[in-house]
Amino acid sequence: MRIDILTIFPEMFTGPFDHSIVKRAKSKGLAEIVIHNIRDYANNKHKNVDDYGFGGDAGMVMMIQPIADLIEKLQSERTYDEVIFMTPDGILFEQSIANQLSLKGNIILLCGHYKGIDERIREHLITMELSIGDYVLSGGELAAAVVSDALIRLIPGVLNDETSALSDSFQDKLLSAPVYTRPAEYKGWKVPDVLLSGNDKAIRQWQMDQAVDRTKKRRPGLLES
Ligand code: ADE
Repeated sequence: MRIDILTIFPEMFTGPFDHSIVKRAKSKGLAEIVIHNIRDYANNKHKNVDDYGFGGDAGMVMMIQPIADLIEKLQSERTYDEVIFMTPDGILFEQSIANQLSLKGNIILLCGHYKGIDERIREHLITMELSIGDYVLSGGELAAAVVSDALIRLIPGVLNDETSALSDSFQDKLLSAPVYTRPAEYKGWKVPDVLLSGNDKAIRQWQMDQAVDRTKKRRPGLLES
């Protein structure tokens, strides 16, 4: 999978993709993340990427030209399955969308800023709009990093144990059961007996009961859907 991220703050991506699972996915050649600086495509003297909005509203709006030129350049080089704009008024990003997108070959993630981007970009160039939650971030960069991370760990071969992505919270609309490791007792805090019993069937049943119980208590809406 190739993810092209379009941003005016490319430095924001130097950290998130250089560690852990995403780093491994890149070094195994299973994921490629390419960061593009929108400003490099501005064809005006001062390399401006934003301008005052029509209609007198306070706030700057990201201009069409640099973004359109960049998207069109990328699309002339390869086919993209989706051109995604990160925005709080997009559809809510959740595990089922991550699953679908992780099967795609090439996607573009466009990060917005200021008051927004010229609506004509959304009308003509964007195929999907994603929000990572009902709150407003200063820009789409952190949201794009969240989405990229959630997709990349689902690509077959990225996780060592493929079943571990399947048993994640949300994968079956249930939160995960609690997990424990050694020691079996710490200052009187004990691991549940069943996990030490060696009885595989009882352990699976306990994990399922815990998952359902947690989901009922913490996120009952997941069970209803
Ligand atoms: N840009 C600003 N806020 C955002 C959000 N909640 N989700 C996606 N992109 C955003």
